[in-house]
Amino acid sequence: MGKITFIEHDDTEHVAEFEAGASLMQVAVDNAIPGIDADCGGECACGTCHLIVSDEWFDKTGTPGDDEEQMLSMTPERARTSRLGCQVKTTEAMDGMTVRLPEFQM
Ligand code: FES
Repeated sequence: MGKITFIEHDDTEHVAEFEAGASLMQVAVDNAIPGIDADCGGECACGTCHLIVSDEWFDKTGTPGDDEEQMLSMTPERARTSRLGCQVKTTEAMDGMTVRLPEFQM
């Protein structure tokens, strides 16, 4: 069990508890974090689980695969540390991580 802080575009913070192994998207949905639509249910097909990981935590999230990279390339608010939440599996090393939510999902 750990905690991840989701920060909305207006700086509203939401602290969510998670069990390692769930995806970042699932953690957000389970904790009713606003701004994560997850329309495809985690199939890497909609791009509506876009998150921007804090610089200092980005290395902990691994590397986007080809499918994720393709979806991210179509994401309007893409940043250097953007990830699709459904493609990031949480680990205990992510306890304390902060991620930002874009103003709009696509
Ligand atoms: S939930 Fe659709 S791409 Fe992540």
